[in-house]
Parts: sequence; C-alpha cells; structure tokens
Amino acid sequence: MKNEKSMMKIVVIGGSGLIGSKLVTKLREHGHQAVAASPNTGVNTVTGEGLEEVLEGVSVVVDVSNSPSWEDAAVMKFFETSTRNLLASEAAKGVEHHVALSVVGSERLLESGYFRAKIAQENLIKGSSIPYSIVRATQFFEFVKGIADFSTDGNKVLLPPALIQPMAADDVASAVGRIAVGAPVNGTVEVGGPEKFRLDELIRRGLAALKDPREVVTDPHARYYGIELSENALLPQDDARLGETRFEDWLRRSADKGGAREIGQRT
Ligand SMILES: NC(=O)c1ccc[n+]([C@@H]2O[C@H](COP(=O)([O-])OP(=O)(O)OC[C@H]3O[C@@H](n4cnc5c(N)ncnc54)[C@H](OP(=O)(O)O)[C@@H]3O)[C@@H](O)[C@H]2O)c1
Repeated sequence: MKNEKSMMKIVVIGGSGLIGSKLVTKLREHGHQAVAASPNTGVNTVTGEGLEEVLEGVSVVVDVSNSPSWEDAAVMKFFETSTRNLLASEAAKGVEHHVALSVVGSERLLESGYFRAKIAQENLIKGSSIPYSIVRATQFFEFVKGIADFSTDGNKVLLPPALIQPMAADDVASAVGRIAVGAPVNGTVEVGGPEKFRLDELIRRGLAALKDPREVVTDPHARYYGIELSENALLPQDDARLGETRFEDWLRRSADKGGAREIGQRT
C-alpha cells in the first residue's frame, strides 16, 4: 500500500464478510488499527446499534457490508437506511474519509432492484458532507457458483455470452485497502480483473473445476439476475485498475487448498 499515511484507525463495516475479513487482515498487516464491525460484533448500521461507540476516534470508515436479503424492497431499505445512519454518525464524529464498495456498471443494470439500491447508496454518499471514495469492482471469482445457482433451470444453467472481467476477492480487498489509506478521491475508482471472458464460458469453467454436473447453455436472451445484458454492461472503464490474479491460477490454487469449496461456499 504505497503512499499511505502513518498508522490510522479504520472501521470496516461488514468486517466479517468475504471482502471485509480480507481487508481487516491486510490493513493490520500494514500496521493500521482495523476494527471489524458487523452485527456479530454488536454494530448494526440498520438499527444504529453500536455505531456511535465504534466510530470514536476513527478517521476512516470502509463500508463493505451487504444486505442479507436481495429482494427489491428489502435491499433498497438496507442500503438506504444503513448508509444514512453511517453518514450521519460519521458527520457527528468527524470522520474524514468514507469508502464504499460498489459494483461496476450498476447504472446499466437497473432492471435489478439490487443495483437500484447500490446506486441509491452511491448517491447518498455523493450528496453527503463527508469526503469519500467509491470503489466499484467487477464480479468476484468467488461469485461464480452464485451466478450459476441463480441462472439454473433443472440441471441446466442458462446464460448469455456477454463479456465479463471478474477478479479475485483478494485483489478487491487490496484495492479497497490502498484507497482507504490514501486521500479521498471524492469520486469513483473502478477495479477489474486482468482478463475478459464470455459469461457463459466463465461459469462453464468454474463449474467444471467444482465438478458440478450442471450443463451451461448459451442463450443470448437468458437474463442475468433478471437483467437483459448488453455485450459490455459488466465491463469496467478503460482506466480501471486491474488485479493481478488470473482465473485459472485462482481455480488451481483454490483446488490445491481443498477449496473448489471456496467457490462453492458463495451463494
Ligand atoms: N459479489 C460480487 O461479485 C460483488 C462485486 C462488486 C461489488 N460487490 C459489493 O461488495 C460488498 C461486499 O460483499 P461481500 O460478498 O464481501 O459481502 P458478504 O460476504 O455477504 O458480507 C456482508 C457483511 O455485511 C455485514 N452486515 C450485514 N448486515 C449488516 C448490518 N445491519 N450492519 C452492519 N453490517 C452488516 C455482515 O455481517 P454479519 O457477518 O455479522 O452478518 C457481513 O460482514 C457488497 O456491498 C457488494 O455490493 C460485490
């Protein structure tokens, strides 16, 4: 993490999650005081429980939480309520930098309530008085089985051949960490993986590595989380910062760790 300031106290909202737990570890390895905050540790951004206390003396808040429900109304309520509560508490406590993780292409995916909620989250951050950095990432490699499960009909997985540039959760956490310890950009930074794939082909390779017997069927009209995808909808901008980990290397490493399970755990 180049150009970082000296030791900082950083609260990671969603610090027990996939990205959050990796981020807390990385920040601590770089000598920062990283506090993992989530309902499990008594901090609930929806009810406000524990927020005031955990933000005491904190200069940076990183929000990598996620909604427990992706149902349209529930996910909107989660991101709106949680973000409003967080920003209000941060303003009261003098937090100097709010960092949030969002998704590349959200404005092109508005047929889905999940992405409408992510845009609402981004807009609340942009409209607040707290200096901020929004990090938009592409789909995580760990999400491959989740995509397959959502698109499964019987023993077939129906997916369009749209382009996708996924990345390892570890690279996402590194990118978020670098931004969290730097100056606020008061804007959006996009991060993506090193290679582009066709969505159907990516999922086919992932399921093969998992020895999952489902057949991936290429269907240009199949929907992705209810969305009819245009060819480039999931791709980051040309100036996106790219992670280093390649999908095949990640699959091999996961398998070596006994962890085709690592992909399998994500739903
Ligand atoms: N999946 C993708 O491919 C992708 C791509 C780009 C961006 N993203 C974004 O990445 C972010 C993190 O995703 P993830 O997969 O790492 O999430 P995750 O593993 O599902 O973790 C979610 C975290 O949110 C916490 N949380 C839930 N309700 C909370 C509440 N009321 N108050 C405080 N914390 C709460 C959970 O805490 P408990 O463990 O205590 O319940 C957990 O730590 C999301 O915002 C998502 O939009 C995802």
